[in-house]
Amino acid sequence: MAYLGAAYLWVKAAHVIFVIFLMAGLFMMPRFFVYHQETVPGSSEDRRWIEREGRLLKIILNPSLILVWVFGLMLMVEIGAWSFGWFHLKLLFVLGLSGYHGWIAGYTKKLARGERPLSDKKLRMLNEIPGVAAAVIVIAVIVKPF
Ligand code: HEM
Repeated sequence: MAYLGAAYLWVKAAHVIFVIFLMAGLFMMPRFFVYHQETVPGSSEDRRWIEREGRLLKIILNPSLILVWVFGLMLMVEIGAWSFGWFHLKLLFVLGLSGYHGWIAGYTKKLARGERPLSDKKLRMLNEIPGVAAAVIVIAVIVKPF
């Protein structure tokens, strides 16, 4: 349903701009976690990390995720993307990435409560998830292999 007219490219640009903000935040946060976990719960350094993580989540990550979804769904309707195979692949990985976002928000709360559930090594390994997901998503939407 082509309803955006000349605004289509502006919506697509906005979509990609907020994708970049979202990905930057998703890559940064587990790095923050690694540094945060080295601090003693309740210390002033601990409180400073809690504040930094809270700000990154509220100012960058959450608004970007919402705007990526809003602009992405607008584009989906515009080009009738639902009928394409590449879009289903993209959506699957976008849902995975949104789940990862949810996990990050949950881990931020755990650290703020003084918990340190995962080792630094596991946190570094988890950082591969957004990279792989972004690669699959970009290939799906640009190469459109099927
Ligand atoms: C949140 C749900 C999302 C939906 C519903 C969605 C949907 C769409 C649609 C329908 C297009 C237009 C494709 C075209 O015009 O040919 C698009 C473009 C694009 N999307 Fe998404 N998207 C979402 C999330 C993401 C994410 C998380 C990423 C990257 C990690 C991403 C990266 C891109 C890129 C790079 C383009 C531009 C492709 C081009 O230049 O044609 N999108 N998206």
